[in-house]
Amino acid sequence: MTTAATTHRTAFHYDVAVLGLGYVGIPLAVGFAEAGCRTLGFDVDPKRVAELHSGISPLTTVPSQRIASVVTRELLFFTTDKADLSRSEAIIICVPTPLRTHLDPDIGFILDAGREIAPYLRPGMLVSLESSTYPGTTRQDLCKVLEEGSGLKAGVDFCLSFSPEREDPGNPKSQLSDMPKVVGGITPECLKRAVALYSKAVKRVIPVSSCDTAEAVKLTENIFRFINIALVNELKRIYTAMGIDIWEVIDAAKTKPFGFMPFYPGVGVGGHCIPIDPYYLTWKAREYNVDTRFIQLAGQINRGMPYYAVSRLVDALNTEGKSVQGSHILILGVAYKPDIPDDRESPSYEVMDLLRDKGAVVDYHDPNIPVITAHGGGREWGDKTSIALNAETLRGIDAAIVCTAHRGVDYGFLADHLPLVIDACNVVPKDAKARVIPA
Ligand SMILES: NC(=O)c1ccc[n+]([C@@H]2O[C@H](COP(=O)([O-])OP(=O)(O)OC[C@H]3O[C@@H](n4cnc5c(N)ncnc54)[C@H](O)[C@@H]3O)[C@@H](O)[C@H]2O)c1
Repeated sequence: MTTAATTHRTAFHYDVAVLGLGYVGIPLAVGFAEAGCRTLGFDVDPKRVAELHSGISPLTTVPSQRIASVVTRELLFFTTDKADLSRSEAIIICVPTPLRTHLDPDIGFILDAGREIAPYLRPGMLVSLESSTYPGTTRQDLCKVLEEGSGLKAGVDFCLSFSPEREDPGNPKSQLSDMPKVVGGITPECLKRAVALYSKAVKRVIPVSSCDTAEAVKLTENIFRFINIALVNELKRIYTAMGIDIWEVIDAAKTKPFGFMPFYPGVGVGGHCIPIDPYYLTWKAREYNVDTRFIQLAGQINRGMPYYAVSRLVDALNTEGKSVQGSHILILGVAYKPDIPDDRESPSYEVMDLLRDKGAVVDYHDPNIPVITAHGGGREWGDKTSIALNAETLRGIDAAIVCTAHRGVDYGFLADHLPLVIDACNVVPKDAKARVIPA
């Protein structure tokens, strides 16, 4: 990095700016501020910025008082004004990376963020991407829009790095400072700058040889999970047909002190990472003429699980002389995993879609998602509200499917007040009055 660039650093007002204040950006900005860094949070959503500015957290995982505390101490500031970005020594990008309809990556948010930053990029700055994406995004795609829009050269005038976000929503152990941070830079100097930045807020920073490698680390972690979940989902179908309880098998298998790691079956995979990230790699691999059969197969299995859950219900109703058509079905849990209020890409909605298409009357209960919003994962279920669980509301319901098992839901009570429960989460007591079918 040039001497001129180093001189510029003293003129910056903020140590770091976080662009994109969502599930990833908010804890990151708060974590930097708590570490004593003057931090700026930037988002295009004025409503989001206004609520954060008032010290109100939109996330249950980051309590409002943590935000209010750093805002009051003037360590964390929020803005919708792009020009403010020019006053930060480093900018971290945390924008969404969704899939298009045909499972192709959409890095449009990253490119937009790059175009937003470019006019305000100043010599000496560091830009670090944290959004999960395919190898090459930082070095090629983001670099291009930053250089074109700023007239500056990456690795010469400004630094560029990639560091994957590894947050585990709902897990209290997943704090920024405790989660080892993998970092790659487009030059050794960029890497040095990025390591120095993250070391201010994170106890352990792991440098890797390039941005491409750091991007591949994130995809590898999530593909590992995606494939192992597919494996237990397949095993569940096999063992269920054999009358063997998959949950008992996993519980016993995990007593092996090495070589086995427990993963659990369900009605599919959800969230903004696991069902999406693998397809970023399968798409990029096509450019290199490499097949990705293992990942594709895991995807087929995971995407088939809502159909399996519904088929278990169809068979169970059938033995009682009933059809799905006209039955009243209750879905337990629309969040994509237990104890969080995030329903993005939740497979519960796929189950609900399938049941509705077969003519069922569908209701749901989820203490963490009182109302389904189009912003979440509910698409066509927007504005539907969670029903209360009591003897009155359960009367007339023909069956329930437990898709996501949140703490605090009384599954024993549920199963004592319903004729049939399809349990994909192994939470319904075995001695319940209802007929309980594993799924
Ligand atoms: N949610 C997770 O648990 C998690 C975990 C690890 C990695 N990730 C990855 O992190 C990235 C962000 O995910 P998220 O869950 O925080 O997304 P999110 O949808 O919760 O938040 C994204 C935020 O970015 C803002 N935004 C979009 N475009 C912008 C722009 N051009 N300029 C400024 N702000 C903009 C949106 O308004 C929104 O507030 C994704 O790549 C995701 O795969 C997410």
